[in-house]
Amino acid sequence: MKQNLILIGFMGSGKSTVGRELARSLHMNFVDTDHYIENKENMKIKDLFTRRGEEKFRKLESKYVQEISQMTHTIISTGGGVANSDANMNALKKNGFVVYLDCAIDCLVERVSRRNTRPLLNGFIDQHARVVELLNSRVGNYRKHKNTSVFINSKTNLEDTVALIKKLYINFD
Ligand code: S3P
Repeated sequence: MKQNLILIGFMGSGKSTVGRELARSLHMNFVDTDHYIENKENMKIKDLFTRRGEEKFRKLESKYVQEISQMTHTIISTGGGVANSDANMNALKKNGFVVYLDCAIDCLVERVSRRNTRPLLNGFIDQHARVVELLNSRVGNYRKHKNTSVFINSKTNLEDTVALIKKLYINFD
């Protein structure tokens, strides 16, 4: 069995929430790439974007993804843009099983609208259109890099999602 379990997917798909629960349930460590970056850089993601720009953020993200990919026995929740880089994903996949949280658009829009901490969505009046635009540009990469997908909508409950991913992970070789 590959040691790490990696969650990829769009902002608001539930990667951090699901990841924390999986870690608790499987008695594994948990790392969220955004929190890791924030701790290392001592700055919120939002501020990294505004002060240093997206290009610099992506460089830092890739650097820390390489570090994180060396970990073992860990559930890794990734930022929504991590799967855009083959280098990021190839490093993570060396020692990890990749699950794409494929969340329905309406559910994503509802969830991302609750917070304004995501620079790529801030300032867009039509959040639905922005989510569709960004998701269309990314879905190919999520699909390319996944080992399996789990579908989520507003009716899915956390326990069911966690139980399903556990089963897929345990049966994967
Ligand atoms: C991003 C997603 C965010 C965060 C940053 C950029 C993206 O993480 O890494 O705002 O490019 O999709 P979440 O997916 O955890 O919101």
